[in-house]
Amino acid sequence: MPHIIDGKEIAAQIKEEVKYKTAQLKAQGRNVCLAVIQVGADPASTVYVRNKKKACEYVGIDSLSFELSESTSQEELLSLVARLNTDDKVSGILVQLPLPSHIDEDSVIQAISPDKDVDGFHPANAGKLCIGEKGIVPCTPAGIIELLKRSGISVDGKECVVVGRSNIVGKPMALLLLRENGTVTVAHSHTRNLREITRKADILIAALGKPQFITADYVKEGAVVIDVGIHRDNENRLCGDVLYEAVKDKASAITPVPGGVGPMTIAMLMSNCVAAVKR
Ligand code: GUN
Repeated sequence: MPHIIDGKEIAAQIKEEVKYKTAQLKAQGRNVCLAVIQVGADPASTVYVRNKKKACEYVGIDSLSFELSESTSQEELLSLVARLNTDDKVSGILVQLPLPSHIDEDSVIQAISPDKDVDGFHPANAGKLCIGEKGIVPCTPAGIIELLKRSGISVDGKECVVVGRSNIVGKPMALLLLRENGTVTVAHSHTRNLREITRKADILIAALGKPQFITADYVKEGAVVIDVGIHRDNENRLCGDVLYEAVKDKASAITPVPGGVGPMTIAMLMSNCVAAVKR
């Protein structure tokens, strides 16, 4: 039987730690406050934003909510970000992605002050991660490192394969595994012989965004398998990038969907909010 990595439980632990730190900061007169901006009413974004605000409430972080209409112009959004950047009461700023197509996401990400960039998407934070300086790290890959550490899984010297090269998950994930002394391969949609590469992995991170793509023949016996995907299967049940039922019998440890990586993303966002105040 593989070890089923319980992301819900580990995320709950982290939220308790954040709750404690938030209370300590409050006692020193330092409030933690996250400004959350959503443009338009994408249903998935609405659910994510609601969960982020709920988590803030739970850990004692104040949240400010900006629900802007789909027709908001880039200038209006940039001017709101500029105002929040200079507002001393606001410690973190999160602009929920994706943005409507008439707004340039990169310009908005770059407008957020790097010290308030709790998503860790600003080029200054991405650059710091790249050269091994302290900065704010994107929540999902940071959460995966916590899952591994708190499950007693060492990365040092291991063959790590990351499937996916997004700025939000794949690239920062590779850099964090490298920071933990893993030997890292990044595979993507143009990779030839993907199966041969993934079968070498001691630690396999599936972040390719294709439902149940990673079947048992992509996985080495005894590998640790981390599933970043979130989809609906033919029967409308949640599933990941990994064909869980088949792969779990081969893995030594695996994250389920739901209840694996997902809850960690929000827990690490809370952790980043506290870190932003301390900066
Ligand atoms: N959309 C999907 N995931 C994320 C995330 O982690 N942060 C933001 N801002 N938007 C997202």
